[in-house]
Amino acid sequence: MTLVFFLARFIGTVPITAVLVFVLLKLVARLHRRRGVDGLGRAVLVMGCDSGFGRRLAGALDRRGFVVFAGCLSPDGEGAQSLIRESSGNLKVLKLDVTKDEEVQRAKKTVQDNLPEKGLWAVVNNAGVSDWAEIEWSNVEDYRSMADINLFGAIRTTIAFLPLVRAAKGRMVFVSSIFAFFHCLNMAAYSVSKRGLEAFADCLRVETASFGVKVSIIQPGNFSGATNILKTRTALDLWEKLDEDRKKVFNRRYMEVANDYFKSTCETGFKTAEPVVTAMLHALTAPGPKSRYLLVSALDTVFFKLHPFLPTVLADSLFCFSSMYRTRAEMLFLK
Ligand SMILES: NC(=O)c1ccc[n+]([C@@H]2O[C@H](COP(=O)([O-])OP(=O)(O)OC[C@H]3O[C@@H](n4cnc5c(N)ncnc54)[C@H](OP(=O)(O)O)[C@@H]3O)[C@@H](O)[C@H]2O)c1
Repeated sequence: MTLVFFLARFIGTVPITAVLVFVLLKLVARLHRRRGVDGLGRAVLVMGCDSGFGRRLAGALDRRGFVVFAGCLSPDGEGAQSLIRESSGNLKVLKLDVTKDEEVQRAKKTVQDNLPEKGLWAVVNNAGVSDWAEIEWSNVEDYRSMADINLFGAIRTTIAFLPLVRAAKGRMVFVSSIFAFFHCLNMAAYSVSKRGLEAFADCLRVETASFGVKVSIIQPGNFSGATNILKTRTALDLWEKLDEDRKKVFNRRYMEVANDYFKSTCETGFKTAEPVVTAMLHALTAPGPKSRYLLVSALDTVFFKLHPFLPTVLADSLFCFSSMYRTRAEMLFLK
């Protein structure tokens, strides 16, 4: 009887003990997380600092005391020059076109010659371009030039700078996009480059984990109103590239409507780069950075989290609800 009583009391306390241990561990983890990595004696290299996320991140890191190497396509341009004006002497602008081996090697030499005592803490592969067009309106060169910057640019700089980041047991950050996993009209070339980038970053994370290097992927949604990413291409530019056969299928009026729709959709996005820069800073300074940061509205978060698990037939059919798909079917006389 006493044994039964003892067992009942013991079993009764197990869930309470487990909850207490869980809460305690959470508190310890939170306290640990809060400490974060400071900038003192550490350098970060950011690509694509002429404008947008890269420029803002470079400024934010400078204010946190990091030595910042800000890779710019045009160091004499207004973006780079205003960054220099607004920053401390610890920020150095480098001429860095990520498609050029010699510029990457020259930048590496400058970084190595100017490293602070704790070395190169992180590289942020942020340089990128975007464009839109249906697959039949594009040629292989459109795909190649996009991948050359968004994908091979990041691979080139990673291979060059990884030994320095490995020595510091630091961070590699890759700026991807929701289009790495979400497929829709007009975004094929961009999706190809960003999906490739994520495959590269995922493999890198596995390989560098044992060296103590952490890899994070940033997945912004629509922030085109907050950066310079949007191309000022017209429907006429696209139309003029089409051959005669395709001009018979994709009429010019449709291309104008598609162009207007694309631009108006872009206008509905975030007007500030703040959420992306905050996520980048977390990836660079938190003791436990996330492997992926999805940056979309709360409602879209639910959709994008579910989307990869939907059967393809269901995911594809969701597009039927979009007004643009109906307009496309009507204007191109599709069933
Ligand atoms: N904004 C969005 O909605 C959004 C959404 C998802 C992902 N992203 C990604 O976020 C990253 C940053 O883009 P952003 O939105 O901040 O646009 P952005 O303002 O155009 O910034 C992109 C930066 O990359 C630079 N760049 C272009 N080609 C380069 C090259 N060959 N070598 C080095 N730098 C180069 C650009 O220089 P120039 O200014 O001189 O061209 C610019 O400084 C990109 O990877 C982009 O794909 C953006």
